[in-house]
Amino acid sequence: MELLKKLTEVNAPSGREDDIRDIIAAEAKRLGYEVYEDALGSLIAHRSGNGKKLMIDAHMDEIGIIATYADDKGYIRFGAVGGLELKELHKRRVRFSNGTMGIIGAEDEKFEKKAEISSLYIDIGAKDKAAAEALVKTGDTAVFDGRYYEQGDVIVSKALDDRAGCYILLRVMGEMDKSDNDLYFVFSTQEELGLRGARTAAFGIMPDYAIAVDVTDTGDTPSCPVMDVRLGGGAAIKVMDDSVMCDINVINTLREIAEKNGIPHQTEILADGGTDAGTIAMTGGGVRAGGVSVPARYIHSPSEMVSRSDIESCIRLLRAACEFNWS
Ligand code: CO
Ligand code: ZN
Repeated sequence: MELLKKLTEVNAPSGREDDIRDIIAAEAKRLGYEVYEDALGSLIAHRSGNGKKLMIDAHMDEIGIIATYADDKGYIRFGAVGGLELKELHKRRVRFSNGTMGIIGAEDEKFEKKAEISSLYIDIGAKDKAAAEALVKTGDTAVFDGRYYEQGDVIVSKALDDRAGCYILLRVMGEMDKSDNDLYFVFSTQEELGLRGARTAAFGIMPDYAIAVDVTDTGDTPSCPVMDVRLGGGAAIKVMDDSVMCDINVINTLREIAEKNGIPHQTEILADGGTDAGTIAMTGGGVRAGGVSVPARYIHSPSEMVSRSDIESCIRLLRAACEFNWS
């Protein structure tokens, strides 16, 4: 799990994926893959075969914030990079790309009643505007600060959405046996801004089938959505989310592969959230797309929680899917 820890620690919000891309590219090359990049920055590792074109995708960006200006008192005002839960931001730590740390404050103590990003600020301890601008410039980005730890079967960190998916892809790339499929492993950009990188990557590849690997909510905490997915319950095979109605052939094939190999799996319908499968499906004349998800609690927080055994189930399922003779 050292690699997963390393992937989560990288500071790479949507559109600023350079550092995470470098690490993944080095790892893919070490595994013997040829890699290339498209104009939106997605990294693509190709292993050619004579069979069907299969695209396996995970996004490498994470949610974050962007500095919009520094006020006279030295506080940084900011905008959202991705779907931030505004009510939860108060008193959280953020880390800018240059290492500057800040705490998110709220103008109004009753902030939770009226959550607006314009009433939040980042306190970097600067005494005035000039001091703030010496540390953080307009347009600089930051991500949550959230230390990685493992405890029993669970792993907690920032950015497990979707570095867990990136880790799974790299493990599959390294452990896969013979495959006739023409395989494209895509590490996409800007997912958190609206599934953007996967769209151009899919257009460049035009696969026959695609599987997006991402995190999904669970329905097993005291306050949670009603949902038939639980932490530790196995790889979640996606049926539907906000962005996609998955291809029935992809769903059934993934289920059959899981059954045949005795891989723990469950069924995912995500009511609130989308995945790269959504834009991949709508690319060109359409792509048959599905998803394999890692159940996760506290998504889009500095303390996202996943299960180690679920990650292993996802690896086994995707590895078998890559080896499967798609027709
Ligand atoms: Co996300
Ligand atoms: Zn995600």
